[in-house]
Amino acid sequence: MVTVAPSILSADFAKLAYETVRLEEAGADWIHIDVMDGQFVPNLTIGPQVVADIRKHSSLFFDVHLMIEKPENLIPAFIEAGADLISVHSEACTHLHRVLTLIKSSGIQAGVALNPATSIHTIEELLDDLDLVLLMSVNPGFGGQKFIPGIIDKTKRLALMLQERSSSAQIEIDGGINEETGQAVVEAGADVLVAGSYIFGAKNMDQAIHSLKIL
Ligand code: DX5
Ligand code: ZN
Repeated sequence: MVTVAPSILSADFAKLAYETVRLEEAGADWIHIDVMDGQFVPNLTIGPQVVADIRKHSSLFFDVHLMIEKPENLIPAFIEAGADLISVHSEACTHLHRVLTLIKSSGIQAGVALNPATSIHTIEELLDDLDLVLLMSVNPGFGGQKFIPGIIDKTKRLALMLQERSSSAQIEIDGGINEETGQAVVEAGADVLVAGSYIFGAKNMDQAIHSLKIL
């Protein structure tokens, strides 16, 4: 089964605890938390305090996607807040290996996120240190954008690279995911699907989550 990670970026931020509980009841596997700093991306969202506060209302796996410059400065605070996995952008890290080591040293999982324009070869030297590779299928910053079709082939090439290197890292796809684009990337080798507007915009949240799980 596909792991479904609804993005709370599309939730009503005034009701985050309620929305997180609603996602859990609707069958979400993970909660995807988009952290933006207004520098790496042109938008500003959630800090460690908010993650700590919603942690009190949910036992789901917290998948924290840091879209921030100098993530090493805030990683300890997000670990303390209850993150289960933290992904950092390769484009935001000069010393990516050091940052992954920092995340893993606390016992939680580490991922690297790649913008649409960033080659999968950026992480070739780091495969042994990775639990997850997050391929952005939109340019990060906002929910509700259109899926970039070239990511289907990028997913295939990444899956092949991981297989050739006997890596157990999971492949997560983030941006513009619905039943149709989700199906295409799962066929290409994706394990985890992030979806914001598709799930929060659906008439029936349970059905929307289920439709991705069974792809
Ligand atoms: C974009 C975020 C995504 C976003 C996905 O920068 O990383 O997680 O919330 O939203 P949708 O599914 O609406 O494209
Ligand atoms: Zn995200």
